[in-house]
Amino acid sequence: MNSLSSTPKRDLLSLLDLSTAEILHLFARASILKTALKAGETVHPLKGRTLAMVFEKPSTRTRVSFETGMYQLGGHALFLSSKEMQLGRGEEISDSARVLSRYVNGIMVRTFAHENLLTMARYATVPVINGLSDDFHPCQILTDIFTFQEHRGPIAGRKVAWIGDGNNVAHSWILAAARLGFHLVMAIPNGYEPKASVLEKANQEIAKQASQGSITLLRQPSDAVADADLVTTDAWTSMGQEQEQKKRQKAFADYCVDSKLMRKAKAEALFMHCLPAHRGEEVTSEVLDGPQSVVWDEAENRLHVQKAILEWLLA
Ligand code: CP
Ligand code: NVA
Repeated sequence: MNSLSSTPKRDLLSLLDLSTAEILHLFARASILKTALKAGETVHPLKGRTLAMVFEKPSTRTRVSFETGMYQLGGHALFLSSKEMQLGRGEEISDSARVLSRYVNGIMVRTFAHENLLTMARYATVPVINGLSDDFHPCQILTDIFTFQEHRGPIAGRKVAWIGDGNNVAHSWILAAARLGFHLVMAIPNGYEPKASVLEKANQEIAKQASQGSITLLRQPSDAVADADLVTTDAWTSMGQEQEQKKRQKAFADYCVDSKLMRKAKAEALFMHCLPAHRGEEVTSEVLDGPQSVVWDEAENRLHVQKAILEWLLA
């Protein structure tokens, strides 16, 4: 329970923490907040509120968009590198969660093991937001779908092609397919498939929700992108996997999104990447900088979508 209110606190650790209706509500608010910002209007629902941002991994977009978002909503964000916190010297996550909850109104965490986030959320009495874990990146995928919908309308029933690693970003796409009813077709090399538990959970949710969403795993990128409305990819080597880089470069060599591959998707297909991109590895500069790419809109929209999340959880 939040110490200041009688309603249970909510967290955003994975997309399963949100119902379809809540996701659509966040998109509507993100759109309103974006329009207000562009019109120079002041919207301060978080006046006097603070967000602790605990980072165990590097970040450009997540850090700057959350910090800027809190400021624009009238609140304040604290950047806390875990190395410079007692957390980095062995203070328990459970103790840090209880202490931070006495000072701030919300905690955003970027960490390695997803279990760390679950522990933070279990002991915090304020909302906890996943700013990326080894398993999920929910704020990113909410933003990606918001961006798709801005450009192309509802994503339900559309085809999304994922090319590359079955990683944290891929896992969030999988859960999103269940919640928002689109067809996710993934081309993934042998040995780099998404976790079976995530696929199983998504398929359970599809059945429970009678969602029209589906998830298909393939090997060949050209099969996955056929007729796709959106082609997306991510780094071959995620943060924390640096020692596997050489092995991964070999395993993913045929999984580069280039112009030839994009031509197999629908003519109006969009290209997205959560960034940072590794030009010449998972995507060519021609695609990243090309007319189908909406990666800069996607990066900008982290700000607007997260403001909607912050307003919803912290106001
Ligand atoms: N996409 C994303 O989360 O970027 P950062 O690692 O820069 O935060
Ligand atoms: N999969 C990448 C995403 C970076 C935003 C990583 O975890 O490093």
